[in-house]
Amino acid sequence: MAAALTREGGEDAFRRLFRFYRQRDASDLRGVVDFSAPGGQVFKSQLSISSVSDQDAYRAGLRPVSQWKAYGLNGYPGFIFIPNPFLPGCQRHWVKQCLKLYTQKPNVCNLDLHMSPEKTVDLWGQSKEQLRRKGSSKWEPRSLLEKLRWVTLGYHYNWDTKPCIYQVSLLLGRLNKNLVIPFQSSQNHSWEREKKYSANHHTPFPSDLAFLSEQVAAACGFRGFQAQAGILNYYHFDSSLGIHVDESELDHSRPLLSFSFGQSSIFLLGGLKREEAPTAMFMHSGDIMVMSGFSRLLYHAVPRVLPNPEGTALPLCLDQGLPSDLPVGSVVEHSSDEDWHVCAKYLQSSRINMTIRQVLAEGQKFPEDSGTNGKGQALSEDSHHQENSRAKRHKPNTDS
Ligand code: SIN
Repeated sequence: MAAALTREGGEDAFRRLFRFYRQRDASDLRGVVDFSAPGGQVFKSQLSISSVSDQDAYRAGLRPVSQWKAYGLNGYPGFIFIPNPFLPGCQRHWVKQCLKLYTQKPNVCNLDLHMSPEKTVDLWGQSKEQLRRKGSSKWEPRSLLEKLRWVTLGYHYNWDTKPCIYQVSLLLGRLNKNLVIPFQSSQNHSWEREKKYSANHHTPFPSDLAFLSEQVAAACGFRGFQAQAGILNYYHFDSSLGIHVDESELDHSRPLLSFSFGQSSIFLLGGLKREEAPTAMFMHSGDIMVMSGFSRLLYHAVPRVLPNPEGTALPLCLDQGLPSDLPVGSVVEHSSDEDWHVCAKYLQSSRINMTIRQVLAEGQKFPEDSGTNGKGQALSEDSHHQENSRAKRHKPNTDS
């Protein structure tokens, strides 16, 4: 890694930069890599154009792979950044799925941990009027959708094996909604915990999202990728995501795919150790990131969500609706104006990220006892999200 190994005053280099970028008034963002104007440590990356037919790309709402740009970063083999390869109008489909469909049962979300099942059964239905009417005041109560932090798809974490942490999380969640149970991945933390997937905590993975993921993975040289688990993260301008490694999957030879929609963010990609200073990069709406090979198990975090660079309420790439004629077999579907209006209102101050993983290698099974184990993913109500409320902003970030 090009990054220097540093630890100053007991604080590792990753945490130091996380804290730097988390400050809303950190106005010096010159060091943040922008793949829409690449330079410096960025180089062009090759894609496997023949692995995805134009027809399949269109069906997933993507441009033909021959039209995509793809970049790598010096010092991060296996990392691929693809600036918005979506066809006009198609991001809207994925945004609507993340808010309206994937939030439905049997998928699991943070709200399930402290609300009764009947209260979380229809987050969209319960929030849409409130969102539609929402003005610009920061003091209006948040709708359930705005309280949503994460949804899991496919293989979910095995909450049952973690009664103590679950209870601690619940208790603290009740005491203070802004205090997040930190996700711990540093060896120094005594309460580091495991995340486990298991064979019996599984619900069907959405077929449209599986199809999209398969096309993107194939274009990056990973034919036969199986989308088996997904984490959807929902951010607002006061959210961040703590420093972590995604290592719970049994098969690390398969990539981790990350899709972002709505407002922008700063993403930090570090090394195998937190003492390695991370590289900061912008992620804008429609951007896709692939972490594979050496980069599959690197520390990463999202210290900050920030307004899209165009300075408009919504990124311009979300302006357009879908064309009336969609290709045969398109997994992308039209949404009503009414639904899009709710999504647009939500996204004016929010960002949605979907990370998709293959958990098991072809033919692999979970070990008899429990499935995979792994450190470094959140089990708590707020996942590894940090919500920096106005009142709590000055508090140290306990997670990272
Ligand atoms: C992101 O929101 O860009 C990253 C999500 C993750 O690391 O899980």
